[in-house]
Amino acid sequence: SKGGFDHFMIKEINEQPNGIKETLNRRLDENGDIKLDDIKLTKAELDNINKVYIVACGTAYYAGLVGKHAIEKFAKIPVETDIASEFRYRDAFVDENTLLIVVSQSGETADTLAALKEAKSKGARILAITNVVGSSVSREADDVFYTWAGPEIAVASTKAYTTQLVSLYMIALDFAIKKGTITKEQYKTMISKLGETSDKVQEIIDNSDDIEKIAEEIKDSKDAFYLGRGLDYCLAMEGALKLKEISYIHAEAFPAGELKHGPIALIEEGTPVISIATQDVLFEKMVSNMKEVKARGAYVIALAKEGNKEVEKAADRVIYIPEVDDVLSSILTVVPLQILSYHVATKRGCDVDKPRNLAKSVTVE
Ligand code: M6R
Repeated sequence: SKGGFDHFMIKEINEQPNGIKETLNRRLDENGDIKLDDIKLTKAELDNINKVYIVACGTAYYAGLVGKHAIEKFAKIPVETDIASEFRYRDAFVDENTLLIVVSQSGETADTLAALKEAKSKGARILAITNVVGSSVSREADDVFYTWAGPEIAVASTKAYTTQLVSLYMIALDFAIKKGTITKEQYKTMISKLGETSDKVQEIIDNSDDIEKIAEEIKDSKDAFYLGRGLDYCLAMEGALKLKEISYIHAEAFPAGELKHGPIALIEEGTPVISIATQDVLFEKMVSNMKEVKARGAYVIALAKEGNKEVEKAADRVIYIPEVDDVLSSILTVVPLQILSYHVATKRGCDVDKPRNLAKSVTVE
């Protein structure tokens, strides 16, 4: 049942604080350290891993892009994130020293499962992140990390994504402490900051009236563009997917630095450009990019961290998220993007939970 909500999607958006908490807290021991019982990878085995692939489809793939940032930053292992339907046919460089992380809410996605089997046959170690206990992906994998999102009904993935992010951060931190690439103090700090994200997501949900107003302003657009740099570019892609799949507005994400290499030609008077600027080192660059598109007529909707008021000079509307460590911002940033898509789609009269042409689980190629 929808538990008093109009749609499963908004219900599931609201379940995210709890999903984040469950995914994290169920794997913290009495000292508050990460304890991954289902991952049997020993320290010696981990030391032999010289390459990680994260393979998935759709939203799970976008979570995997964030996972790449986290694992490379903390555990210092090179990571390539790939789309399962590409990976399975491209003869990727996989051997016994490869770890393949597959991410799949359903655990039944045909391409993801095929990519898993392909890598397994080449000797890779397989770690699955999935939401469904006993799913095909979980049965084929060597190690399984279950996201504790609870059943996700809406076709548009929301709470599965945020719990996948938490899982990937936890895996990154666990690998990092085992490999000695972060100090115990950094490890402890990151776990405690990860723990704070659930309340901050709640805060975003509780204060989302302005997002609904922005949805009203952009609901009749033909196109919408999403810009970001670094981690924010991963979120731009997820935001664009969320909008296009449920509202049918043409939505596309660009790395902001690529604007001048082509995409800026698309900007017309009034085109909504959702510009994500949560990363401190990239903030100034993003503000310049917003000014560039605004000068060409874009309707700039900025997403920034609380206190970064400078963004207001370059934007028509600003959505603020609570202060958060840059590397963990993804967990917060996605929430306003989900809420915006939801309101745009409902205002357009779309069937948000069952968008046209789409199935919840893609079990055929
Ligand atoms: O069950 P999976 O996580 O393997 O599904 C992957 C994609 O099909 C899924 O994320 C899809 O892109 C969603 N509709 C996105 O909201």
